[in-house]
Amino acid sequence: MKIKVIHGPNLNLLGIREVNIYGPMKLDDINENMKLVAEQNGFEIDFYQSNHEGDIVDAIQESITDGTDGIIINPAALTHYSIAIRDAIAALRDIPIPVVEVHLSNIAAREEFRQKSLISPVVAGTISGFGPFSYHLGLLSMMQILNEIKMAKQSKQA
Ligand code: DQA
Repeated sequence: MKIKVIHGPNLNLLGIREVNIYGPMKLDDINENMKLVAEQNGFEIDFYQSNHEGDIVDAIQESITDGTDGIIINPAALTHYSIAIRDAIAALRDIPIPVVEVHLSNIAAREEFRQKSLISPVVAGTISGFGPFSYHLGLLSMMQILNEIKMAKQSKQA
């Protein structure tokens, strides 16, 4: 089964950007850790980062045809205002392609404009506040969801 990880705007600058908030770890290192864990558990994993809302909508939509079984997304600043990304995720719900939302920082404890996520109501769950470990927890959650979907399919066939 294949998991797609989507990183939103400015996450390419992790390790340089506001290190006091987001920590010193680079995006490539976060991805590398996820790849190890995913592969150890028998999952394929792909990574995508963009600073552009429309490109992220495209990456979400492409999941319908490119064999993606689940998406882990940190929409970054787009979390707080992108109806387009919310709608793209909502479109996957009935397929179903489950989505887990991840944030490095605890958005509920930050500025008021960050406390609202337009994405949270349309995802399976949100993990926020554990630094790079949020991605690890997001991956564990996604693998659990996909294993449950797989088992449900198998028991339907039996
Ligand atoms: C973020 C939180 C967002 O508010 C912010 O715009 C980001 C990163 C996080 O991972 O904590 O770019 O999504």
